[in-house]
Amino acid sequence: MKIAIAAEADSGEPRVAATPETVKKLAGLGAQVAVEQGAGVKSGILDADYTAAGASVGTNVAADADIVLKVRRPSAAELKGYRKGALVVAIMDPYGNDAALKAMADAGVIAFAMELMPRITRAQSMDVLSSQANLAGYRAVIDASAEYGRAFPMMMTAAGTVPAARVFIMGVGVAGLQAIATARRLGAVVTATDVRPATKEQVESLGAKFLAVEDEEFKNAQTAGGYAKEMSKEYQAKQAALVAEHIKKQDIVITTALIPGRPAPRLVTADMVKSMKPGSVIIDLAVERGGNVEGAKAGQVVETNNVKIVGHNNMAGRLAASASALYSKNLLTFLESLIDKKTKALAINWDDEIVKGTALTRDGAVIHPNFMPKSAA
Ligand code: NAI
Repeated sequence: MKIAIAAEADSGEPRVAATPETVKKLAGLGAQVAVEQGAGVKSGILDADYTAAGASVGTNVAADADIVLKVRRPSAAELKGYRKGALVVAIMDPYGNDAALKAMADAGVIAFAMELMPRITRAQSMDVLSSQANLAGYRAVIDASAEYGRAFPMMMTAAGTVPAARVFIMGVGVAGLQAIATARRLGAVVTATDVRPATKEQVESLGAKFLAVEDEEFKNAQTAGGYAKEMSKEYQAKQAALVAEHIKKQDIVITTALIPGRPAPRLVTADMVKSMKPGSVIIDLAVERGGNVEGAKAGQVVETNNVKIVGHNNMAGRLAASASALYSKNLLTFLESLIDKKTKALAINWDDEIVKGTALTRDGAVIHPNFMPKSAA
């Protein structure tokens, strides 16, 4: 069994799909691991580190691999270099990318999308959305503090008192919770909002204040899968009125709101941005999914009326070494579930919930029910 760790073709992607630690464990599963030259450099891992862990390092490593591990979905050009029937495991960004999924089916690879991992206890250690969102939430606060021209904690000094920064977190999933915790550690006064009632207690347990329109719709806003539903127009209007009043008094706003498979909900309007004090900072973590903030631009820091709107792409990638370490561990535990420990060979149980939830393509076709062409579904 040959496992290839491919380098990322996208220059904006500094993460890598294996660390020396996971290479050793993959070898322990009976695999020969080959790493593309330079694949780990942007995550602080040198070729020699992989070699010391038992991998070979070379070029075109995916050509004869049974399993290719990546961070991002392979392009059509990359797919040409893969073996038919190879397993390709990555963050596939499948929503709205039908042509790219078809390209993987046509290339004959068996593609698994790590971000579709079911959120069940057994798969927690394979959950890339959690591992990466946690880092993104932390980094959002660090970026906000770097852009902000004042201190976060209250400081009482002989020269006067610096007030604590007021931080408002919108969307309290994994990223939002980490953002609350990080902002609190820096000494900010933190408030947070979400549409899922379960978040209220979580926010309060982190020492922040919860703010939301708590009507009947709010009480039913969580799906069985634990995600938010898209809210009605009426709810959105009530939410906007509440947020508009609150946001005026905030120094930092961090938005993280997402609805799986839908564009990000618009939570902060241009008028709300205009109402903020000069020097305020907004970080839009949803910018790559359409953005929560009007005027946010992916990959840019925009300044309007002296308010900065930060729209960095790939927030987790801004902590590449940590993000790669956690992502590699997610991949390792997933592969462990696909490999028979006795025979040291691939033994995929196609009826397993984890496999069914993540498998995108097989035998030349898109097989995931959410992404099958309409005629086949
Ligand atoms: P996400 O990244 O999909 O969304 C971020 C947050 O935005 C969510 O809390 C969502 O409720 C919120 N949101 C959506 N629309 C909004 C709106 N209009 N206004 C305000 N907020 C809005 O969420 P994430 O981080 O993936 O977490 C979703 C759920 O999954 C949580 O309940 C989390 O605890 C759960 N989870 C379960 C795991 C497991 O069982 N293995 C692992 C990780 C998370």
